[in-house]
Amino acid sequence: MSPVRSAYIHIPFCRRRCYYCDFPVSVVGDKPPGGSGAQINGSNSGTIAQYVQVLCQEIRQYVSSGELLQTVFFGGGTPSLLSVEQLNQILTALDQQFGIATDAEISMEIDPATFDLAQVKGYKAAGVNRVSLGVQAFQPELLQVAGRSHTVADILMAVDLIQQAGFTNLSLDLISGLPHQTLEQWEESLEQAIALSPTHLSCYDLIVEAGTPFSRQYKLGNTPLPSDEMAAEMYRTAQRLLAANKFEHYEISNYAKPGYQCQHNRVYWKNRPFYGFGMGATSYLYGERFARPRKTWEYYEWVKQEGRREKAVGEDERVRSQTRVGKPALDLLDTLMLGLRLAEGLDMAWLIEQFGEEAIARLWKCLQPYLQDGLVAIVPAPKDDQLPTSSHLRLTDPEGFLLSNVVLTTIFEEFE
Ligand SMILES: C[S@@+](CC[C@H](N)C(=O)[O-])C[C@H]1O[C@@H](n2cnc3c(N)ncnc32)[C@H](O)[C@@H]1O
Ligand code: SF4
Repeated sequence: MSPVRSAYIHIPFCRRRCYYCDFPVSVVGDKPPGGSGAQINGSNSGTIAQYVQVLCQEIRQYVSSGELLQTVFFGGGTPSLLSVEQLNQILTALDQQFGIATDAEISMEIDPATFDLAQVKGYKAAGVNRVSLGVQAFQPELLQVAGRSHTVADILMAVDLIQQAGFTNLSLDLISGLPHQTLEQWEESLEQAIALSPTHLSCYDLIVEAGTPFSRQYKLGNTPLPSDEMAAEMYRTAQRLLAANKFEHYEISNYAKPGYQCQHNRVYWKNRPFYGFGMGATSYLYGERFARPRKTWEYYEWVKQEGRREKAVGEDERVRSQTRVGKPALDLLDTLMLGLRLAEGLDMAWLIEQFGEEAIARLWKCLQPYLQDGLVAIVPAPKDDQLPTSSHLRLTDPEGFLLSNVVLTTIFEEFE
């Protein structure tokens, strides 16, 4: 089994639920008028404190693989609803259980208008060295359409506080394809984001998730949602504008200045194992993905039961010693689905070593039409039509990335 060096921590609280979001979150209410992030924490301190206690219990129930953590990611929800003390409690539990490398990347997703300067300075002092701010758009009307609980002024204030606190690694999240969003507004959002000098940008194309207010309100392909062609144009615009501003398009939805790719997310795309802790979080250990319950009380109950089971029978140890033997149980389709998201693609020699020449020759054959029409590339290009063993297989940017689902569907049909 590959060493486990990454941990995802889910903080499932939000002031309100955005109309497009289906992440496992529990709504704790808007901030009191004129209040600061600290007050929000204060007004929900009971709920959040109880969650942190259970989360730390879950962390302490794990057996370390003996490796220090190189990446820790606090995702949400809104991790900036944690007080500095609560964040420290979680980091202490992780450090005691696994050890956190001194040069580890520690990321935290934060939302505008949920923190003040003292709080964000406290996060930095606790060890957080990368923050990802949920911006989504720079137009008040689009923030409203999306159900965001902050204003454009809050975004600018948040970036100012983050920079005053001394963070040098800042990522911003934007969404394209929002209802009523025009190409000009999207371009304006990209330009405003670039002007704030982030080191990283995530540009997500809106997914209308089942069960969200968006899914009840809007129909795919119909106005006010953009057409497929408009959504593709927004994607190309991001790629062009960000490349012109020296951002590497290193993953389908992610752009970074040189040296600032998100190391934690690279673990996912490389299909490497990671711990996942907290309500609704997924872990990937011993070749298996495991999702925790998405409801608070069910998660609390699960942590209690899981603790008893582990202590009683040591079952985890047994599973561990069995799966340590032999190669990691890598799954070809998962590996392709995740690895082709990265601009660097996948090393053919490594694919052959992991999955055998026969499977990769089949893959090579089914990709021929896409190699010919330029959606897939092989770098460097092979000299003959033999299976190239010393090249990287990748989707082209932007057209291959845009049609990644078409390419992947062909691959899935071939292997399933
Ligand atoms: C899980 S959220 C957590 C971050 C933070 N709570 C926030 O919203 O600002 C991470 C990012 O996922 C993106 N996201 C969430 N739901 C989405 C959807 N349905 N379609 C596209 N992007 C989405 C948003 O850009 C968001 O910033
Ligand atoms: S703040 Fe982030 S996690 Fe919370 S509901 Fe909105 S998009 Fe989802």
